[in-house]
Parts: sequence; structure tokens; C-alpha cells
Amino acid sequence: MPDVPRYLVPFHPKRVPHFFTDVLIIGGGLAGLRAALAVKPELSVVVITKDSVLQSNSHYAQGGVAAALGEGDRFENHVEDTLVAGGTLCDRAVVERVVREAPRRIGELIDYGVRFDRAADRLALGREGGHSHARIAHAMGDATGKEIIRAVVERVEHLPNVELWEHTFTLDLLTRDGVCRGALVWNGRHGKTAIWAKQTILATGGAGQLYRETTNPEVATGDGMALAYRAGAELRDLEFVQFHPTVLYIAGGSRHLISEATRGEGAWLVDRHGRRFMTDYDPRGELAPRDVVSLAIVSQMEKTRHTNVYLDMTHIDPQRVRSRFPGIAAVCAEFGLDITKDRIPVRPGAHYMMGGVTVDLEGRSTLPGLWAAGEVTSTGLHGANRLASNSLLEALVYGAHAGEGASAAAEDIHDSFHAPEIENPRVETASEPLNMADIGNSLKSLMWRDVGVRREAETLTDALENIEHWSRYVQVRQFAEPPGWELQNMLCIARLMIEAALARQESRGAHIRTDFPTLDEDRWRRHICFCRM
Ligand code: SIN
Repeated sequence: MPDVPRYLVPFHPKRVPHFFTDVLIIGGGLAGLRAALAVKPELSVVVITKDSVLQSNSHYAQGGVAAALGEGDRFENHVEDTLVAGGTLCDRAVVERVVREAPRRIGELIDYGVRFDRAADRLALGREGGHSHARIAHAMGDATGKEIIRAVVERVEHLPNVELWEHTFTLDLLTRDGVCRGALVWNGRHGKTAIWAKQTILATGGAGQLYRETTNPEVATGDGMALAYRAGAELRDLEFVQFHPTVLYIAGGSRHLISEATRGEGAWLVDRHGRRFMTDYDPRGELAPRDVVSLAIVSQMEKTRHTNVYLDMTHIDPQRVRSRFPGIAAVCAEFGLDITKDRIPVRPGAHYMMGGVTVDLEGRSTLPGLWAAGEVTSTGLHGANRLASNSLLEALVYGAHAGEGASAAAEDIHDSFHAPEIENPRVETASEPLNMADIGNSLKSLMWRDVGVRREAETLTDALENIEHWSRYVQVRQFAEPPGWELQNMLCIARLMIEAALARQESRGAHIRTDFPTLDEDRWRRHICFCRM
């Protein structure tokens, strides 16, 4: 099947407004904002986000930021836990660097005004699956992301060199002579605009919206990965999608995350008969790594012929439950559940993409002029399965390094800006209107059914054939608004994810093949990479 077109929309350099900046940051979550804080104040920065800065996975994060700060804990323990969860596709040098920087990055957040929860005179540290020690710094109980984003946005808004463009969709990276020169963006006020930048940082987050069941907000449509791919940057590890074990499952309700920290506080997983089942599957019980817990839940749902299992906190001190999880308590109360008395119906949902744009230790992608940070990347920290609460940490570390690196590189470019002549002609392919919502829903159901917690060749092949068919008439169109572009981006990434999932004939971390149930280190201790030629 033909690859995706290079650019999503037609444009002509003489017919679009041009804007010039030293550093362009695409994405307004924690990684992008932290990058903005790292750019030297004498350089100009534009931060683009397709919704408001409050719509990112970072904002919705509940758990917290992992750091070996507790009594008896050490960096080595955090390194080891990360490596055990992610397996041999983790890059040890990356893991060590990120883990060692964790206390400093949390200290920076405190300086920015983040109010982490405290116990006596120290940070209160929670526990989550796969962690051998309590080491999760959290804020406002279960509203850690919201509190961090509040403080960081406030800080960024006070920087005179940084402009924040909200509600602006990034269509494509602009490249010339194999170098990234900025991006073509769109918003309802100005239409298409070419932003020419000396250096560009991608921090657009993940692609959870590819799945019918997901904890991710609507903005997580894989745009950054797709536009990096179209521009020629390398992507890798796309078969590794983390399914969070406990997503609220109530007909008609939002798929709200029920934080793993609940199990860290002693919550149980029980089936429809009220029976605890996790130790049937793993001796670590409810605190086993996420891939293990998600698979156990799916198996128990099948065994008991029920649509979900339940999270039970009724045996924990109600006062403690309410103060530690005020957000979860409020959401459940809207559906008539008192979490101190009622069991919460849950099942797994797509949560986090381990794969993405390949970057080096400093956040440099394989495309010169393009840097990346946060969930959009594959850094080598997470391997085949991310350890809980290592993602906000990664966003902080790589946001800071990518910001510093892009800043230094932009300072080294002395020639004055000129807009390279790039254009993409209009192509007329079809007159039939497309029902985009229909294709989008079909795609999400297909991905959930065939590319979900468990995979096998037959259903993956079937999924790929469907995606290729839809792509044949969707990818050649030129849409005029975000829903069409998002659909094209989702189809682009879905195809690569399925190709990678089909190719990896083993089970590793979050990639579970029922037809290849074991780990195959000899053949598959390697990354699957994609690069558009
Ligand atoms: C959670 O609170 O369970 C999510 C934390 C994470 O995904 O790291």
C-alpha cells in the first residue's frame, strides 16, 4: 500500500502568513512547558497547543512523580524496578540518568510553587505497582497533574520571551534539505500559518484515542508521531501500548482513571463474586506490574463471564480514602457510588504509549533541527512496559534537556531568517462526503478488539487489512479542519502499530501475543523502527 502523503493540506508560501521564532515547541503538556522554561530568556519561543493547556495527559495524571526519596530507598532500587518492568529493551544509561535527576526535578517543581502533599516535615510518598518502595510524590491527593500544570503554566505565562498559542493545530513539520525548519499550523482565526523556527521541539503526547477504552483525553490522537513520521523522523517501539488495569467502567460514564495509588494504599481487586483473584495470577498480587494485572483482569472477566471486575476499598479507613482520593470519590459519587462503602467497577483501558519518536539522551530526534520530549518519544526509559509514575518524571527530565539543547543549537544559528520556498499543491480526489465519526468509531473498536491487551496474527492481519482499506480513501483526501487531520494521523499511527505488533513474534512487556506466548531474547531483543523514505 502507498505510504502517507508528505503534507496533509495544500499550501503556497505566498498565500499563508509567516511567523518567525527561535524555538518552536509543539505541545502544551508538562514536557513542552518544561522545555519552554529551559530556553534562554534572550531567545523567542512559541508554544503551540491544539486545545487549551489544561487538556493534556499531564493535567489528568493522578499518581505522581517517582523518585527514590523515602527512608531506606536508593537510586539503585528505582533503577532496578524500572528495568524489571521494562525488560531488556530499556536503555540502562537512560534509566540511570532519569532516576538520578528525579529528586532535583521535584525540587524544581517545588520552587515553581507546586504544593506536594506532605507528612510531617517530609514529602508524603505513595506506592504503586512494580515499585519496591514507597516513592511517588503526589499533590492534592489524586490531582497531581492538575497541581503541577497549574504551577508550571503560571511560571511560563510570566516569561516575556514565550508566546502561548492555544487552540492551534499543527498540521505538519516544514522541512528543507533534510532539516526541520518549523511547522505549518492552523487555527480558526488565521487559517494556515507557517512558523519558521531555528529549532523545533515536539511534545504532543500519546495516542490513547486510538482505542475505544482509554484513560486519555480527546486530544491524544497521535498527531506528533504522525507528523514526525511524515517529515522523515524515525519512530520505534510502537507495538508497546500500556493498558492501565483500572479504568472506571460504568455505562454512559467517562472512562475515568482509578489510580494505581489506590492499590498502593491497600485496595483489592475482586471479581463479581467478591473474590480476590490477583494472587491466582502473580504472587505480587494487586501490586504486580501493569501488564500482569491487566491480563489477569481480562482473564478473570472471561472466567466469571462478566464485563468488569471491581476495585474494593471498603476495608480501608474511610477518612484516609476520602482525603487521599478526593477526585476519584467525587467522580464515583456522580454515578451513585460511595467509594468507602461500594466497590468500583473497573476494567483495563489504553493508557500510555511506550513507543514514539526515537530520541538520544539529550532529546534529539533523527531529523536535524527536531527535538522531542514526553510521551511522544521513545527514549529507552520504559522499554516494553513503563513503571508507574515514571512518565511525569521523564517529561520533566527530557523537557529540560530538549529545551536546553534546542536553545543552545538556536543560539548557534546566526544567519537571519528567511522562509524557504516550500509548497504542496491541491489535489482533488473525491466529491463524496465522509462520515468521519463513523470511521473514527470503527477504528477505535477495531483497535480495542484486535490490537488490545492480547494479540494474535489472525486478528492483527484482519485489523491491518481494514486500516489499509480505510487509508486508501482517507489518506489521499485534503481536509479543511482538525477532525479530518486527526483521523488521518490516527490511521497513520494505527497502521504502524499493527505492523510492529505483527512483526514482533514474542510476548514482551505490554505486547502479549497469544500465538507467541514467550519472551524470545535471541530474536527480539531489538527495536522495530519506522522511517518514511
Ligand atoms: C495512576 O495514577 O495509576 C497513573 C500513574 C501513571 O500512569 O504513571
